[in-house]
Amino acid sequence: MSQSKQYLPSAEWSANAHVKGMDGYRALVAEAEADYEGFWASRARELISWQTPFTKVLNDSEAPFFKWFEDGRLNVSYNCLDRNVERGLGDKTALIFEADNGDVTRVSYSELLAKVSRLANALKARGVKKGDRVVIYMPMSVEGVAAMQACARIGATHSVVFGGFSAQSLRDRVQDAGAVMVITADEQLRGGKQLPLKSIVDEALADNSCPTLKDVIVYQRTGGSIAWVAGRDLWLHELLEGQSSDCAPEWVESEHPLFLLYTSGSTGKPKGVQHSTGGYLLHAALTTKWTFDLKPDDVFWCTADIGWVTGHTYITYGPLALGGTEIVFEGVPTYPDAGRFWQMIAKHKVTIFYTAPTAIRSLIKAAETNEAVHPKNYDLSSLRLLGSVGEPINPAAWEWYHQHVGGGRCPIVDTFWQTETGGHMITPLPGATPLVPGSCTLPFPGITTAIVDELGNDVPNGQGGILVVKKPWPSMIRTIWGDPERFKKSYYPSELKGYYLAGDGAIRDAETGYFTITGRIDDVLNVSGHRMGTMEIESALVSCTELVAEAAVVGRPDDTTGEAICAFVVLKRPRPSGDEAKAIAKQLRDHVAKEIGPIAKPKDIRFGDNLPKTRSGKIMRRLLRAVAKGEAVTQDTSTLENPAILDQLGQAY
Ligand code: WTA
Repeated sequence: MSQSKQYLPSAEWSANAHVKGMDGYRALVAEAEADYEGFWASRARELISWQTPFTKVLNDSEAPFFKWFEDGRLNVSYNCLDRNVERGLGDKTALIFEADNGDVTRVSYSELLAKVSRLANALKARGVKKGDRVVIYMPMSVEGVAAMQACARIGATHSVVFGGFSAQSLRDRVQDAGAVMVITADEQLRGGKQLPLKSIVDEALADNSCPTLKDVIVYQRTGGSIAWVAGRDLWLHELLEGQSSDCAPEWVESEHPLFLLYTSGSTGKPKGVQHSTGGYLLHAALTTKWTFDLKPDDVFWCTADIGWVTGHTYITYGPLALGGTEIVFEGVPTYPDAGRFWQMIAKHKVTIFYTAPTAIRSLIKAAETNEAVHPKNYDLSSLRLLGSVGEPINPAAWEWYHQHVGGGRCPIVDTFWQTETGGHMITPLPGATPLVPGSCTLPFPGITTAIVDELGNDVPNGQGGILVVKKPWPSMIRTIWGDPERFKKSYYPSELKGYYLAGDGAIRDAETGYFTITGRIDDVLNVSGHRMGTMEIESALVSCTELVAEAAVVGRPDDTTGEAICAFVVLKRPRPSGDEAKAIAKQLRDHVAKEIGPIAKPKDIRFGDNLPKTRSGKIMRRLLRAVAKGEAVTQDTSTLENPAILDQLGQAY
């Protein structure tokens, strides 16, 4: 790998950034190496207001169940709201909400505090208390952010479910979390369309399938007509009437679960990643400060949905903890046209823009076919920093982003991290790190990522291996909700010397030591930056019991979405072809959308009388991956029980 092309930070960047130059970066790394706990403790004291200061930093006596700052008490909502008002930022804009139709609402820190407090009081009035789980199934909105903050304020543990997930997925999450409440909206507005939310909640909760659940709170977004379950459903605006805008924060222990967020793993069942309060907030704030170099005058825009971890850390928590101003966008990048992002950057004078490679790639395509939506037509001079997250960014997309969006002057922080890590793990720091397109560069100070072999031994630079994190860090996953054994097995397998297993492969450049992520090493796909387990999609397909006998799912590279989902399906009826195959493929896609959500629909479906298997009956996935890519199968197929099957799988529907 040649890493000769480097982009150095400008002198101005190095002089003014929170972390100044590589010397600044190296000093922080050295500080963490010399005194690991001291490094984190001093940042935790500097960035967080503790109601009860901690005296212990890391407790590893029950590893891998690590505890950070465990005798400290704090409240995240206090840290994000009250504290900023007390510091004189009450009138500062916290959130700039831009609706799908372009309407803009600004919410100051004082207003957000009042809003969150009223909602927190309303939740308490409904009996929600510390430790209860509240599922949030909402559109991108001020109310969505406020709902998360209100939970944090009273010590309830939120679990946000992305608004694109199906009733079945929502039901699984409500059940697994044992939620007492769902907060939702009548409908959501995206790309000029009204999309249902409440009716999906109704379906998820039908037949008393979630016995822990008491209330469904409905935010009226569109006024569309919805069904109503008396005694269970309540309008948010009615609930807020008469609630005081004063609500004393509930001080919780540092390890108190701030939230659960369900994500895909290698088995069929999504796992509830449990995050802490103190350690999580620390890394959210620290990475916002160092990676995004957030300053008082910045307008920060993270385009992620609050249903994903990126929206949690870099919309609801990180920027607010630092008193920043940020955009919350309801719509989609392509409505009313594919210039929407650029138009919004110009309109709001966005200074820091954080999005996903898949969005960049699709906007490149759009700009190539329609000159009018090319970023050159918009005034993007307010931008000073760009970010990328969710999947590897290919160098060509990186260069375009750098040149056409950043005007050649904005550093790009390619941030590698995961739902489980809570915040950035490997990332450039904009005033320090020389950038190499396609590489997430170096570990964040204090983060001990490394590349090892199957036995946990370090591999030399230039040789690929398994990405691990050697030492526990404050914002790490605490457990999988309700399944500590699965937590241990998934992230701390015994052969890896007590290192955290990220699930990605990586390689370090022989000269620079820069990391490049080579992709998941487990059965997890990354489609448009959305994580999905192949087994989850397989189970969804075989749950179509009237049609499907067997299914196998693999990923293949895709120019726009990064990876695309390919399903190999054996039907309970003769193998179809032509129009019949097309119709069945559509039926199966719709079925998967219903089981999981539209994001999980397979792009290609291939039918066979059987799946290619070894003589011992194991599905040969590497063969399927080759077929999915359209490659000629050159691998040795002599161990294949049924080689003729390969010909059948040639056609994708
Ligand atoms: C992938 C999203 C390369 C990776 C924050 C990881 C990346 C998974 C990058 C986590 C990046 C995320 N470069 N790959 N900058 N960022 N990934 O949990 O495979 O939705 O394990 O968290 O996305 O996805 P998740």
